Amino acid sequence: MTGFAPLPGPFGVATADVDLAQPLADGAFRELERAFYANQVLALRGQRITAGQFIAFARRLGPPQPHVIDQFHHPDDANILILSNVKKDGRPTGLADAGSYFHTDYSYLAVPARATTLYSRVVPRVGGHTLFANQLAAYDDLPEAMKRRIAPLRAVHHYGNRHDLDEASRTVASVLNDDQKAKMPLVTHRIARPHPVTGRTSLYAVSGSSFGIVGWPDDEARSLLDELAAHATQPKYQLRFGYGVGDIVVWDNAALLHSATLTDPDDARTLWRVTVLESAEQGAAPDVLAPSYAPPAGSR
Ligand SMILES: [Fe+2]
Repeated sequence: MTGFAPLPGPFGVATADVDLAQPLADGAFRELERAFYANQVLALRGQRITAGQFIAFARRLGPPQPHVIDQFHHPDDANILILSNVKKDGRPTGLADAGSYFHTDYSYLAVPARATTLYSRVVPRVGGHTLFANQLAAYDDLPEAMKRRIAPLRAVHHYGNRHDLDEASRTVASVLNDDQKAKMPLVTHRIARPHPVTGRTSLYAVSGSSFGIVGWPDDEARSLLDELAAHATQPKYQLRFGYGVGDIVVWDNAALLHSATLTDPDDARTLWRVTVLESAEQGAAPDVLAPSYAPPAGSR
C-alpha cells in the first residue's frame, strides 16, 4: 500500500513511497492512477531516474506527444522536453519561462493532453513553483444560469496566450518558428467539458489558448472567456506546488489550469517534461476547424 499525504492546498496528494527506478507492478500503478484522478495532482517525491525510466512511467498514463518546440527535445528521447534557464557556452540548454500564464497543455490540439509530468532536476534557490487551479470546483460553483449559458458553447483554440501576444514578453506562449507555426491547427473544445475519464464536468481552457467562441462575435466571446477565466483562477481554487530535487509531479489537464511562475534567469532551474494525450475513444473526438475559418483578429 502506498501512503499519500495531501498537498498544502485545496487538492493534490504526494507520496514518498514510490521508486520509479524499480519495476512498478500493475496494481501499484493503478493505485497511483486512482489517486491521480481523485486528486488532480500527484507528486512522487525524490526520484532518481533515467530518461528511459521517466518515459516508461509516462507511457503508462497515455501516449506521449513530443512538443512542437523541437529544438529542446531530450537527446535520448524526443518525447522529453527540457525546460531550463541554464546556458552552456552561451546557448540555452532548454526552454525558459514556458507557460507562465494560466493555460491547459495542448488545448490547441484536437486530441489534447491528458496529463503532464514534470521531473524536477535542478531546483532554483528561490521560487519556481507551479500554480494549479481546479476547474472542476470552478465549474461546480458557477450559477445555474451560467452553466446553462455555456453548456452548448465551443471555444476556438489555437497555440498561444490570448492575454499576451508580445513575442518579446516572458509571459507570451513560447515563441514558435515559421515551420512550427505552420503545423498548428485551429480546433474547438467544449467550454463546459466532461472529463474523458471521470465524466465530471469541468471548465476547460478558459485561459490561454481560447481565442473565440464558435458563432460569436470576437468582442463578446473574449468578454465571456475573460469573465470565466477571472472566476476560474481565483485564489480559492489554487494550489501552489513547490519542487524538491527529484520530485515528479503529474497533473490532470482536463481538470486544471496551471501556470509556471517566473524565476531569476541566473538562478539555475531544470525540469524534464513529458505530456501524454487523451485517447480519441475517450470523448476527445478530433474537431479541427476548416482552414477557411478566420481566427480572431490579431491572434495569430
Ligand atoms: Fe503548461
